[in-house]
Amino acid sequence: MRNMFIILLSAILLFEGSFWNTAVSTTVTYDSKALVIDGKRRILQSGSVHYPRTTPEVWPEIIRKAKEGGLDVIETYVFWNYHEPVRGEYYFGGRFDLVRFVKEVHEAGLFVHLRIGPYACAEWNYGGFPVWLHFIPGIQFRTTNSLFKKEMERFLAKIVNLMKDENLFASQGGPIILAQVENEYGNVEWAYGVAGELYVKWAAATAVGLNTTVPWVMCAQEDAPDPIINTCNGFYCDRFSPNSPFKPKMWTENYVGWFLAFGYAVPFRPVEDLAFAVARFFETGGTFQNYYMYFGGTNFGRTAGGPLVATSYDYDAPINEYGFINQPKWGHLRDLHISIEQCEEHLINANATQISLGKNLEAHVYYRSHNDCAAFLANYGSSTDATVNFRGNSYFLPAWSVSILPDCVNVIFNTAKVLSQRTLDDDVFTWNITMHDSSLPSSSWSWYKEQVGVWGNNSFEASGLLEQINTTKDTSDFLWYSTSINMTAKTEQNQTKEVGLLIWSLGHAALLFVNKRLVGFGYGNHDDASFIMSAKVKLHSGSNTVDVLSMMIGLQNYGPWFDVQGAGLYSVVLTDLTDSEEDLSSMQWTYQVGLEGEFLGLQNVSLANSSIWTKGRAIPVNQSLIWYKTVFLPPEGKGPISLNLSGMGKGQAWVNGQSIGRYWSSYLSPSSGCSEDCDYRGTYDASKCLKKCGQPAQTLYHVPRSWLQPGENLLVIHEELGGDPSTISVVTQNGQLICNRVSEADLPPADTWEPGVGFASRTPLLRLSCETGWHIASVRFASFGTPGGNCGALSPGSCHADVSSIVHKDCVGKQACSILVSTDKLGDPCPSVLKSLAVEALCRG
Ligand code: GAL
Repeated sequence: MRNMFIILLSAILLFEGSFWNTAVSTTVTYDSKALVIDGKRRILQSGSVHYPRTTPEVWPEIIRKAKEGGLDVIETYVFWNYHEPVRGEYYFGGRFDLVRFVKEVHEAGLFVHLRIGPYACAEWNYGGFPVWLHFIPGIQFRTTNSLFKKEMERFLAKIVNLMKDENLFASQGGPIILAQVENEYGNVEWAYGVAGELYVKWAAATAVGLNTTVPWVMCAQEDAPDPIINTCNGFYCDRFSPNSPFKPKMWTENYVGWFLAFGYAVPFRPVEDLAFAVARFFETGGTFQNYYMYFGGTNFGRTAGGPLVATSYDYDAPINEYGFINQPKWGHLRDLHISIEQCEEHLINANATQISLGKNLEAHVYYRSHNDCAAFLANYGSSTDATVNFRGNSYFLPAWSVSILPDCVNVIFNTAKVLSQRTLDDDVFTWNITMHDSSLPSSSWSWYKEQVGVWGNNSFEASGLLEQINTTKDTSDFLWYSTSINMTAKTEQNQTKEVGLLIWSLGHAALLFVNKRLVGFGYGNHDDASFIMSAKVKLHSGSNTVDVLSMMIGLQNYGPWFDVQGAGLYSVVLTDLTDSEEDLSSMQWTYQVGLEGEFLGLQNVSLANSSIWTKGRAIPVNQSLIWYKTVFLPPEGKGPISLNLSGMGKGQAWVNGQSIGRYWSSYLSPSSGCSEDCDYRGTYDASKCLKKCGQPAQTLYHVPRSWLQPGENLLVIHEELGGDPSTISVVTQNGQLICNRVSEADLPPADTWEPGVGFASRTPLLRLSCETGWHIASVRFASFGTPGGNCGALSPGSCHADVSSIVHKDCVGKQACSILVSTDKLGDPCPSVLKSLAVEALCRG
């Protein structure tokens, strides 16, 4: 099969070669070990960067940092719903300029793995499918349905041809070395029966038929037909093996953390565990690994999937939401990549010999000859540190760690030993201490109060409760359900009667108004968006209005048949009547899609000076369904910018007409389940390490600098529940606290190791560095001895030499510096005690 694939590839190359620039053409094939690029097996480190989750101005910087972090490949999905918003009408501009993105990666000298799908998942609205697809009569998604297959094939071909036209496949001299069809279909295939199996075969054949000249993968797809490579997704993939001995062991989604949903605590993944997972994968024969995400970014506008996926897609990735390096994650992984690369020749040319070194202890040795080998020593026990004997030497192995020995003798890296600096990632601290905060004066605000219920002449009536997505077609998050209750027969004239209203909804949230007054708010969560809402209300004799505003927070993106998962109300019952309950569900309802303010386009710059806005001294606070508007000056400097919306409820915000996404500050996460000092040892899952319990998932909302202009900028907020806009501030980061601690006994940095030579110097180094263009402005703490405490709160120990002046001299004013951790350099405050150097410094932009 492998040979067939190569022959096929060569044939295609010969046939089409004349059209392409063959001079720079790269061949990509694979064998049982690895991807083979220009005839050479490669060990490849890859990272996900989704182009629309940041702005094109930032792409080069992110890609550069990925390259510096030791990546060879950038992976991205392709987002069909934004590329073809209307059937047959394509869009590839702005953040969706896929060609430009791929070219930027190429320019940086990295490869691309293009996951065309076209199903993406990715916490992206509707998993990346255009909503219009759902309205093709007779269509069924992701199964052997001819209507779906036709559309899927058309889009696959559209993207493949676009890439070919731009010479972006490796064989054309471009950076694309790999493509993906479908995504994790294996996880849901059972739900589609035999039709699912046929669909997999069809998808594979269709992809191969597009003659991309690069291998295709299907992730989490055990039955991926040849020549498609089935790859692993998960927190660990060392136990994975592909479905044929001719395919390499590849890992397409290695979760660096997890995504965030409104109402949930913030997940993070300790880098010691992540590095352990990666090292175990390469130790056990893996040759390609992709971080999901290497840079997560932001779900701007209504791009977030659902239900209730948050606007930040930071993911605890090595590059944070704002494009800043997240330390020690980025640095520790960089050291890991350098160390694995030192073993590349052994890894690609030999098979591992596995040696047991004791309980939960093992070595994998890659021999080129008896005296020429590279080894990985692992302690996969989660609690006991060990000292092992390997080839006559003894090695200390902390629990849940792997040591890398590129020459089978010297350890150049241990996954549990982090030598990289830390950045203090605590939002409150970072943004408060080092941010420039420009609060917006309350006098600057104008507002517009929405009408409750039907507001325009495009409303319509229907009997019974309609499903929301089928009704709005996702043109808006909002659908009004309005009706009236006649109490004449149930109440005496001029009397009121207290009744109950009980509402069942498929999700995701709803506001209930009776006689135009807000009487209830109900909502679900990411795992179950359905909810029941009840309210006690006083109805008067005669007619009473009932208006329910049902809201969606991102269309479902995952699961079997996710595309037909509904939303909106499905039952409304009047209770507490003396005689019986009254089911209002099948009554006549009036519907209105969207909000009045959306229809007017209140977020648009063109309406900024319109008289529709009310200006006055007393700004209304704690009001539902209200629009606010103000202007602000861009914060000084070049640092990232956020809107602090902690004083608001739920809604959406726009800057100069661009949506920065949905916010929901009033939805607090459960108060328990967090562990700020999460033990990295032992198997990780998405709920193991959480922070910000009992707090909003997110209070800071990223505003890309490139969306701002000098002078005044328009900020529009649509608040659904109630908040106080005078609490909103625009903040920027102009400082960053960095810390590092390195002991005399630590290893020198992995990048100072040279094969055949060894470490340039045996003395460990403490390194500090600031963001590009920033510099170390001051040294807040520097102790050589036995310092205690953590980053942000370091303290002198019983042995202490204040070495601030040495660090100051070597570091202040520089973007980066390194200091030898030795008594020669730092003096000796306590001979015969093992000492560490701990430094805390402030970077300024
Ligand atoms: C995977 C999926 C990704 C993403 C991830 C969670 O199942 O393939 O696209 O959704 O889960 O972030």
